[in-house]
Amino acid sequence: MLNLTKSKALWQTAAQVLPNGVTSNFRYWGPEDTRFLERGSGAHLWDVDGNEYIDYRLGYGPNILGHGDARIDEAVIEAVRGNGNIFAMSLPIEQEVARKMSEMCPCVDLVRFCNSGTEATHHVLRVARSYTTREKFIMFEGQYHGVHDYVLFTTMVRNDWITTNRRSPVAVPITSGIPKALHDLVIMLPFNDPETLERVVKQSWQDIAAILVEPVLGNCGGITPEPGWLETIRKVCDEYGIVFIMDEVKTGFRLAKGGAQEFYGVTPDLATYAKAMGNGYPVAAFGGKREFMQHITSGLVHGGTYCGNRVGMAAANATLDVLQNTDALETIHARGRELQNAWTEVFERFGVPFSVQGHPALPSFWFTEKPPREYRDWLQTNHSLYEQVAMGLVERGVLPEPDAREPWFLCEAHSHNDIMETANALEDVMKAVVK
Ligand SMILES: Cc1ncc(COP(=O)(O)O)c(C=O)c1O
Repeated sequence: MLNLTKSKALWQTAAQVLPNGVTSNFRYWGPEDTRFLERGSGAHLWDVDGNEYIDYRLGYGPNILGHGDARIDEAVIEAVRGNGNIFAMSLPIEQEVARKMSEMCPCVDLVRFCNSGTEATHHVLRVARSYTTREKFIMFEGQYHGVHDYVLFTTMVRNDWITTNRRSPVAVPITSGIPKALHDLVIMLPFNDPETLERVVKQSWQDIAAILVEPVLGNCGGITPEPGWLETIRKVCDEYGIVFIMDEVKTGFRLAKGGAQEFYGVTPDLATYAKAMGNGYPVAAFGGKREFMQHITSGLVHGGTYCGNRVGMAAANATLDVLQNTDALETIHARGRELQNAWTEVFERFGVPFSVQGHPALPSFWFTEKPPREYRDWLQTNHSLYEQVAMGLVERGVLPEPDAREPWFLCEAHSHNDIMETANALEDVMKAVVK
């Protein structure tokens, strides 16, 4: 067992001043297991008890180059030292970052900056609603779009079964505190199901402002879109005047320089970005085609005290520079394929049903006979075994997210040696678990 003495003591004092001792519910692993960190460097983390981990969470994705990357840190420090951070006025660097995004991302003519993925999806829905003068939007089972009230919905599940028919899923709030009125604005549909999407849009298009899609189910193990799925979304949006929003908070600048829209060759109307664009510094954006984004100039509110702050802009400028002009993404993708091959080799030795899938920058494995193609399939995978395996890895200094819905994240700093150590740890865990 890892020694967590200092983390446990810190949790006791933290819980006196922070609910559950944490600043985000997702960081609470219980009083005995919630970890406090000392530092991160490259693909490695050290907790306050001195335990070292190979990090495959990367802060849920942002650290695309690795923790504390000197190219980014130095650009940020240089930018802010003695210069101040926010002014309620514009900085020249904003247009540099916007220009880079526009060069890299197929849908982006115009950009607005914000500070988190939550803000980005919140603003972008307002643009779509204002543009179409409609109020509802479609989202898909297994997706996550942040913590604002419009999107904190999931599909009804009991004992790992979705209790409602896939032709007519029922959206339920993920949390208390969501106004009932918002429920009426969400249409929840299954992912990778063109027939259901087309039928529902045909029936209800007059009310639908947007289809909001994670192109890869980055909050459900990284399930990928089947050929034709994103194309169908594009087609129905064109046919019925609906705004196609791709939530690229996890996939942006990770699947390809231009994100999932470049990788899958389907261009949305609007897209949201956060995580990888700042290598861990707080910065986010939404952007898209001129026709929609220009709408912001006539009677539509977007703003925020911290939008376009110098720290975020310097981080984004330096990170996008690296991603645009070096082969960082090729390195990450090659390392991800190496990891996927290592998983396959280990699991084959243990004869458990498994499936290794996903884009190599955002891969996952599942214990199942049948590779999941949507959230309903994922629920049928053996995710309690997954969680057991993940916690076994954590004990051995390899850190994926124990919640099986979260894929693994690769960064430029992951080395061949990290993958080998990960494979050895997995072999060890499987020996202990598959008895
Ligand atoms: C696809 C997607 N959209 C939006 C968000 C919300 O981003 P943030 O946590 O920065 O608010 C997330 C966060 O994981 C996400 O995965």
